[in-house]
Amino acid sequence: MSELPKLSQEDLNGLIKFFNEIQSSKQNFGETFYTNLIRSDRDLEKMFSNTHRSNVGYIFLQSVIAVISTIQKGGDWQAMLFQVGVRHKQYDIKDSHYDVVARTLIQTLNGYKHLFPASPSLTMNKLEIILGGLMTEFVKGYKSELEEVLILK
Ligand code: HEM
Repeated sequence: MSELPKLSQEDLNGLIKFFNEIQSSKQNFGETFYTNLIRSDRDLEKMFSNTHRSNVGYIFLQSVIAVISTIQKGGDWQAMLFQVGVRHKQYDIKDSHYDVVARTLIQTLNGYKHLFPASPSLTMNKLEIILGGLMTEFVKGYKSELEEVLILK
C-alpha cells in the first residue's frame, strides 16, 4: 500500500472544495457510492445493513473531508485514521475490501469530474494515490492489537 504523497495547500483546498461541492450537489453521491460498492462485492451488502444506503457514501466522504482538513491544519491525521481503523474491528473486513472501497470511491467521484478543481498538480490519478495513502493508515489501526474502547454514556 502507498504512502501519502506531498500535498500543497492548493491541492488540499481543491480537494475540500471538490468534496463539499459533491455533498451539496443534487446528484445523490451516497446512493451511487452504495450501489457501486455492493455491485463490486456482494459481501458488503450484509456489512452495511445498519446504515441507510443513501448515508453510507456521505458518512465515508465526511470522514475523508475531516482527515483532509486535519492534514491542512497540520494535525495528526494518521492518529485520526488509526482510530477509525480501530473502530472498524467490529466489522469482518477482508484485505480485498480496502481496494474495493478505495476504487469505488474513485469510480463514484468520476461521475463528478465536472466539479473537479482545475489545477495542474491535482489529477484523478493523484487522488487515487492519496486515497491509497489514507487507506494505509486506516489499515494500521484495523490490524493493530488495540481493542476498541467503548465509552458508555
Ligand atoms: C479510509 C478508510 C475508511 C474510512 C475513513 C471509513 C469511515 C467510516 C466511518 C466514519 C464510519 C461510521 C462509523 C465510525 O465512525 O466508525 C464507517 C462505518 C463503516 N465502515 Fe468504514 N471507513 C473506511 C474504510 C472502510 C473499509 C475498507 C470497509 C470495508 C468494507 C469499511 C466498512 C465499514 C462498515 C461496514 C461500516 C458500518 C456501516 C453500518 O453500520 O451499516 N470501511 N466507516
